[in-house]
Amino acid sequence: MAVTRTFSIIKPDATRRNLTGAVTKMLEEAGLRVVASKRIHMTREQAEGFYAVHSERPFFGELCDFMMSEPVVVQVLEGEDAVTRNRDIMGATNPADAAPGTIRKEHALSIGENTVHGSDSEENAKIEIDFFFKPEEIVG
Ligand code: PPS
Repeated sequence: MAVTRTFSIIKPDATRRNLTGAVTKMLEEAGLRVVASKRIHMTREQAEGFYAVHSERPFFGELCDFMMSEPVVVQVLEGEDAVTRNRDIMGATNPADAAPGTIRKEHALSIGENTVHGSDSEENAKIEIDFFFKPEEIVG
């Protein structure tokens, strides 16, 4: 299995509850390596740009407001089959549907305040990594 990269966000509900370390530990224990990380306060331009694909969905405004409400930690994760590995440890979008032992089952509060974002394909991972990181900020 090839070593690849994915993009992750530790969301405001997690930074607010001081769970950055706990979430990162679960990612690392799942076999992912943090090769870039920064804590940022998203601007409206960043939130609306990043989630532009969801702009027609009814929760778009709520989603963007939430992502701007507190700091987030954006990360690049590396590992074997990183996109799938990360989606597996994240768990289902709605924590009510998430499997035991996943980040969202352990920590998420609701379908909106669901602790982590992770890219859903390698193609989107590249786009999302480029959205937040310069190549020199990623140290593998
Ligand atoms: S997924 O994982 O992309 O298939 O999930 P999806 O259902 O398409 O949701 C996309 C993102 O929107 C967030 N979301 C919501 N936010 C607020 N309110 C409601 N009702 C809601 N439903 C979905 C969800 O957490 C996803 O965020 P990201 O950051 O992409 O994981």
